[in-house]
Amino acid sequence: MGATRIVFLGPPGAGKGTQAKRVVGELGLEHLSTGDILRDEVARSTGLGNEAKGFMDRGELVPDGLIIDMIGGRIERAKKGFVLDGFPRTVAQAEALDRISKLDAVVNIDLSRAEVVRRLTARRVCRACGTIYNLGFNLAAGTARCEACGGELYQRDDDQPSVIENRYDVYERSTAPLIAFYRARGLLRPVDGKLGSDRVFAEVMRILAA
Ligand code: AP5
Repeated sequence: MGATRIVFLGPPGAGKGTQAKRVVGELGLEHLSTGDILRDEVARSTGLGNEAKGFMDRGELVPDGLIIDMIGGRIERAKKGFVLDGFPRTVAQAEALDRISKLDAVVNIDLSRAEVVRRLTARRVCRACGTIYNLGFNLAAGTARCEACGGELYQRDDDQPSVIENRYDVYERSTAPLIAFYRARGLLRPVDGKLGSDRVFAEVMRILAA
């Protein structure tokens, strides 16, 4: 049996969401994206959503305590295994995760700042089914509807150039230290995010089967 308790690490826009959706489809695991959960809370104007919105709009991290409370139970309930996408993002979150579950692999998708800015300014997402597109490689300019379900395509509020730059700064300051954290535990599996989406997926599946 390959890996079933998986973390996707990497800068904003590295392809964590794109690959996480494909991996859970292939392996029948639960996709736990803290960004998606938070955006849903914001859309429903819940207490958590209202608290998180300002941090997200500025590209800052939502406080650790709120995130750990939000995701801990979901991880415990994912009995068939999970792909964590966007969590953990700080050493405090990684230490909390250590107390909740063992891990099989931490896939680190790396991508340069310049490529992150290029990809994220061109990202469009389906409001209905969450399919992720990019004007650079799989979406024609001017397309307004999702190919998969016909839903409306939109641009995320935090995919503006100044916010993207701040998200990358926050990643380098707060999240990149997790590379050493997981390397020291023998869990880190590096992947080159510059490769095309199909090649990244093939590499991830090879790693997870090993
Ligand atoms: P979150 O939603 O997690 O955003 P992120 O980490 O910045 O990651 P993204 O969703 O932007 O990118 P991705 O790596 O998933 O890339 P994608 O597959 O879409 O978090 C948003 C905010 O929520 C945070 O800023 C923070 O405020 C808060 N938050 C969330 N989790 C938190 C936590 N744990 N603690 C505190 N706060 C938290 O791909 C990007 C684009 O590239 C797409 O257009 C895609 O089509 C394209 N693409 C993907 N792969 C390829 C490829 N191989 N080649 C070419 N293009 C590609």
